[in-house]
Amino acid sequence: MAAPKKTMRAFQYDKYGGGAEGLKHVEVPVPSPKKGEVLLKLEAASINPIDWKIQKGMVRPFLPRKFPFIPVGDISGEVVELGTGVTNFKTGDKVISISFPTGGGLAEYAVAPASLTVARPPEVSAAEGASLPTAASTALQQLKALRVTSFDGSGGGNNNAPKNVLVTAASGGVGHYAVQLAKLAGLHVTATCGARNLGFVRGLGADEVLDYKTPEGARLQSPSGVKYDAVAHCATGTPWSAFAPVLADSATVADVTPGIAATARSFLQKVTLAKQRLVPMILIPKKEEMEWLADMTRQGKLKTVIDSRYPLSRAREAWAKSIEGHATGKIVVEMGDEE
Ligand SMILES: NC(=O)c1ccc[n+]([C@@H]2O[C@H](COP(=O)([O-])OP(=O)(O)OC[C@H]3O[C@@H](n4cnc5c(N)ncnc54)[C@H](OP(=O)(O)O)[C@@H]3O)[C@@H](O)[C@H]2O)c1
Repeated sequence: MAAPKKTMRAFQYDKYGGGAEGLKHVEVPVPSPKKGEVLLKLEAASINPIDWKIQKGMVRPFLPRKFPFIPVGDISGEVVELGTGVTNFKTGDKVISISFPTGGGLAEYAVAPASLTVARPPEVSAAEGASLPTAASTALQQLKALRVTSFDGSGGGNNNAPKNVLVTAASGGVGHYAVQLAKLAGLHVTATCGARNLGFVRGLGADEVLDYKTPEGARLQSPSGVKYDAVAHCATGTPWSAFAPVLADSATVADVTPGIAATARSFLQKVTLAKQRLVPMILIPKKEEMEWLADMTRQGKLKTVIDSRYPLSRAREAWAKSIEGHATGKIVVEMGDEE
C-alpha cells in the first residue's frame, strides 16, 4: 500500500448553482483524519440526487457547511491512515463509508467517520460498495418504516407487515434496491418505471410493472387490481390524491421525497388519527445496516445495477447524468490509477 500523497486531484464547487460546469478540477491537499476518522484512498464513489440538490442550494443555509466543497458522501476504498481513537480498522482494509454531509468523495482521498465505515467483503466490488450507503440504506429504512422486519421470504416477518407493496421510481438508485428487498421479504410488488425499464424492473423481481407515463401508471393502478398495503415512494411530485384511491384501508406511504404539501398532509393525518398514513422519511445512516447490506451483496442476494461508470477525470459527466434524472440503477465514479 502506497503512502498517501501530499496533494490530490478533486472536483469541488465554490458557490451554489452551476451544475456540472460548477465543478472545478483542482489539486488540493490530502485531508488528515481527525479523531474517530479514517483516511481512504478512494476506489469508487456513487452520486446521489442529494449531492447535486445541495449544490443547487435546496438545503441552504445548512449545507454545504463551507465553500469550496468537494461533494459526494458514498465512497469505497482502502484505509491508508487512522485518526486517533480508531481501533477497529487497520491500514490496508478495504471498506465502504458514508461521509455525508462532509462529502469529499469526488477526489483521490477522503476522510470518513469510522462509526459509518464497514468492511467491504472481497466478493463486493468497490463500485458495488460505493453504491450501497445512501440508496440501499434508504430502501431498507423505507421497508422497515412499512413494518417489514424480516427479509427471509417469510412475508415480512410479522403479522402487521404489508402483503402488497408499490415501489415508485423502481428503476432508480433507491427503487431498484427497494424492489429487491421487498421481494426478499416475500411481498407482492407492483412497481412503476418508464417504458424502457419495464423488463429491467420485472427482472429485479417485481410481480407487476407500470409505465408511469401511461394513464394507468399515472393513476398508480395495479394491473391485477390489488390495493396497496404499503408504498415505498421514490418518485417525486405525486400528489396524495393519486395514492388515496389505490391504497388499502390502513396503508402507509413511506415518502423519501416529501415536499411541503406531503409534510403538511402527514401532519394532518397524524392529528386526525387517519388510518391511511404518509410518512416523510430522511435517511439516518446506520453502520449495522450498511454491514447487513454489504453481506447481502456478498451472498449474491442483493444486486447493484450500475447505470454508468466514469473515471474521476470525467466526474462532471457523471454529475450531469445524475441531474438528468434518468439513471437505471447507480452512477459511479471510479478513481483507478489514471493520470
Ligand atoms: N429522504 C432521503 O433520505 C432520501 C434518500 C435517498 C434518496 N432520496 C430521494 O429519492 C429520490 C430517488 O432517488 P434515486 O437515487 O433513486 O434517484 P435516481 O436514481 O436519479 O432516479 C432516477 C430514476 O427514476 C425514474 N423516475 C423518475 N420519475 C419517475 C416517476 N414519476 N415514476 C417512475 N419512475 C420515475 C427514472 O426513470 P425514467 O428515466 O424512465 O424517467 C429513473 O430511472 C430522489 O429525489 C432523492 O433525492 C431521498
